[in-house]
Amino acid sequence: MTIIITGTSTGIGFALAEYFGKKGHSVFGLSRKNVESTYFKTIPTDITDNLQVQNAVSEILKTEKKIDVLINNAGMGMVGAVEDSTQEEILKLFNLNLVGSVQMMNAVLPSMRAQKLGKIINISSIGSEMGLPFRGFYSASKSALDKVTEAIRYEVSPWNVDVCTLHLGDIKTKIAENRVKTKVSEPYQKAFDKIYAIMNAHVDDGTEPAEVAAYIEKLLPKKSWKAHYYFGKFGQKIGVPLKWILPQNFYENLMKRYNKMD
Ligand SMILES: NC(=O)c1ccc[n+]([C@@H]2O[C@H](COP(=O)([O-])OP(=O)(O)OC[C@H]3O[C@@H](n4cnc5c(N)ncnc54)[C@H](OP(=O)(O)O)[C@@H]3O)[C@@H](O)[C@H]2O)c1
Repeated sequence: MTIIITGTSTGIGFALAEYFGKKGHSVFGLSRKNVESTYFKTIPTDITDNLQVQNAVSEILKTEKKIDVLINNAGMGMVGAVEDSTQEEILKLFNLNLVGSVQMMNAVLPSMRAQKLGKIINISSIGSEMGLPFRGFYSASKSALDKVTEAIRYEVSPWNVDVCTLHLGDIKTKIAENRVKTKVSEPYQKAFDKIYAIMNAHVDDGTEPAEVAAYIEKLLPKKSWKAHYYFGKFGQKIGVPLKWILPQNFYENLMKRYNKMD
């Protein structure tokens, strides 16, 4: 298969690209930094720049003639209080996590529609299902991608193109280093410091990125997809159905306890 994966210079994307490359697939990684790998080819691309996205996809189509799978993985986190977040920070985050992923879908869809076949996985987060304290805009950016995914599924299904989101729990990567970090103001400092330590500890204690690859490998051959899949530790995945079934205030109190908030 020809597989495009975004955000392959580090973390989950790198693990996915190596995994599928080793399995003999033709893998193209799109990230700003070039990485040398025996198993996949990097096309240096900033996915927030639509021209670069179009050029990269054209280059792949010239040699491969078709694209079977797109894994929209490039993304970043953001931490800080809602009140402290600047317009510039919020737009930077949405420009990558939402707009960049949409540009990637739009670039591969013409060829997928023409061949009447294609699969797109948008990497989301378990945190997109709830507004996480001090990560409100990260939750919102991934939640926006979830909703776009739900919508586009209706639109492209006539051409046998399937799209889903894969909501991940904490995965052991350098995401914490690459986050947008809002300047924390004094009123929020104490609560922020506590949660920041907890969220970083969760990432350090997260699942190995290669396990995401093995999960996606099982997902790819499925005949038709659901809109949403969830992968991560039980304690994180369970937060999603609990939110659906528990009374709202009870759920919020549980979340406060999980995040050690007073
Ligand atoms: N790690 C977790 O716990 C976790 C949990 C839930 C969801 N996720 C999601 O999983 C995805 C991967 O995260 P990760 O943990 O692997 O993070 P990471 O290690 O920080 O990797 C992010 C990747 O995105 C690429 N990227 C950033 N901006 C880009 C741009 N403008 N154009 C192209 N590529 C760009 C980076 O490459 P360059 O800098 O070279 O461009 C890098 O390869 C993200 O969407 C994240 O939100 C992660």
